[in-house]
Amino acid sequence: MEKDLVLEIKKLKQERGAVILAHNYQIPPIQDIADLLGDSLELAKVSRNLKNKLIVFCGVKFMAETAKILSPEKLVLLPVMEAGCPLADSISVDELKALRRKYPDYKVVSYVNSSAEVKALSDVCCTSANAVEVVRKLDSRHIIFTPDKNLGWWVKNNVPEKDMIIWEGFCPVHEKFDYQELKEARDAHPEAEVIVHPECPPEILENSDCILSTAGMLKRAKESKAENFIVGTEEGMIYRLKKENPHKHFYSLGKNKICEDMKKIELNDLYLSLRDKKYAVSLDERIINAARGALERMVAVG
Ligand code: 13P
Ligand code: SF4
Repeated sequence: MEKDLVLEIKKLKQERGAVILAHNYQIPPIQDIADLLGDSLELAKVSRNLKNKLIVFCGVKFMAETAKILSPEKLVLLPVMEAGCPLADSISVDELKALRRKYPDYKVVSYVNSSAEVKALSDVCCTSANAVEVVRKLDSRHIIFTPDKNLGWWVKNNVPEKDMIIWEGFCPVHEKFDYQELKEARDAHPEAEVIVHPECPPEILENSDCILSTAGMLKRAKESKAENFIVGTEEGMIYRLKKENPHKHFYSLGKNKICEDMKKIELNDLYLSLRDKKYAVSLDERIINAARGALERMVAVG
């Protein structure tokens, strides 16, 4: 059955001239069939340079919207419309407008995990891979950082010369990591390197060995001399880490770190998406034009 679906998807993809992009947290069959896998920054960058007129984005809504904003002439499909991100929903347009009114001299840096409307109100976006650099290079000392408080805390630590107002949003998956879990994991695997995502709480970040985006974790796993890794991010990450480093060992930090939204797309959804061209990301032209500058500045930092 799965084999048939895979064949059908490949056939339809060919007929439609489509490309399948997938985030590193997607379920294994989606990762295996994707043309390109990556973190938010890699997928945003790659979406701009594709010849294909049709992108099927296996990830969550803000990622598909980002691809659409950067390539408005393309048809971008998100196979499951309800695949959202609670962190992205943690700040509304009105809340950001109020902050802007209160602090008119501040520039707004928004994590890419935000709505298209919030991006449209931002001076620049960033991902976990380039947040520190984006803030460091910004031509303002005064910054409103939205919406992730943990990423904001980490950036502030790295760029203490900036004055940052940080929104109190968080990712419900990464917020669950606690110090006790980290202590137990270190006791169980004392030789392991601890690599964590900057959406984790400060206590975890402070006691880790490396703080990295999901693509950064893959790079680190390949380059490090360590053979064992404790991984502090969404559990879907372990599949690709193991696949690309079959002789190394990866242990998920603690238990039940699953992003339900990232697991919503299954092979059948991808098949239906290609067959019926659904669900097309549709954004107001005004929003696209207003948000594109902030995203272009993000990808330019690399
Ligand atoms: P990356 O950009 O590091 O892949 O992270 C995306 C994300 O949603 C983390 O929760
Ligand atoms: Fe959003 Fe967290 Fe899921 Fe990433 S892991 S998509 S930040 S809810």
